[in-house]
Amino acid sequence: MIITIDGPAAAGKGTLAAALAKHYKLAYFDTGMVYRAVGLQMVLQNLDLTDEAAAEKVAQQLTFEKMMELSHHPDFRSDIGGQAASKVSVFPKVRAALLKMQQDFSLKPVFANGTPANGAVYDGRDTGTVVCPHADIKFFVTASMTVRAERRYKEFAAKGINTTYEKVLQDMVERDKRDSERSTAPLKPAEDAIILDTSTMDTEQEIAAAIKIIEAQKSI
Ligand code: DC
Repeated sequence: MIITIDGPAAAGKGTLAAALAKHYKLAYFDTGMVYRAVGLQMVLQNLDLTDEAAAEKVAQQLTFEKMMELSHHPDFRSDIGGQAASKVSVFPKVRAALLKMQQDFSLKPVFANGTPANGAVYDGRDTGTVVCPHADIKFFVTASMTVRAERRYKEFAAKGINTTYEKVLQDMVERDKRDSERSTAPLKPAEDAIILDTSTMDTEQEIAAAIKIIEAQKSI
C-alpha cells in the first residue's frame, strides 16, 4: 500500500505520516529531506541558491546516504534549511534530478533499519500529484496559517532554536507563496486527494480521522 500526504509546512503531515507508517507497518519517506539536503549542501559550499545549474549539479550528485548524513546537521531542520530547500525546489531541473530517488523508494520500500516493507507512506508537496500518482490513498493535510505558524514556533522553541513567532509566520507566508506559485509541481491537492483540515484537531484526532478514512476506503 502506498499512502501520500501532501500539504503546506507545519500542517501536521510529518506526525501523521509517521503514525500511519507505524499503524500499517509501512516504510516512511519524508520527501522534504531531498530538497533540504540539496539546499543545505549549497549553503555549506557557499553556492548561490538562485543558480539553477549549480543546484542541479548538487541534486544529481545527491545519494540517499549523503542525504542521511546531512540530516544530522543543526541547520537541516532550521529556517535556514527550510528556506534553502524551498528556493532550490522551484527549479524544474532540480526536481527532475531528485524524482527518480523518490520514485525508486516506492518500488523497494525499506524501513530505517534497511529491512523490506510492504509499502510506504510519503510526505511532501507533490507526492500524490507527481512522485506517486498511482498511490492507493492520497491526503492533502492543511491548517490555517496562524495555527501552522504557532505549531512550528513551538517546535523550534522546544528544540532551543532561537526565533520569534513573527519571524516563523513571515517565513511560512514566504514559503507557502513560493511552493504554490512555482511552475513545476506547485503545491496543490491531487484531484483524488482527501482534504484533511487539522486547524481544530490535536494529533490524536488527526490520526484517528485519517485511519477512519483509510479503513472506509479499504472496505469499498
Ligand atoms: O516539508 P519540508 O518543510 O521539509 O519541505 C522543505 C521544502 O522542500 C518545501 O518548502 C518545499 C520543498 N518540497 C517540495 O518542493 N516538494 C516536496 N515533495 C517536499 C518538499
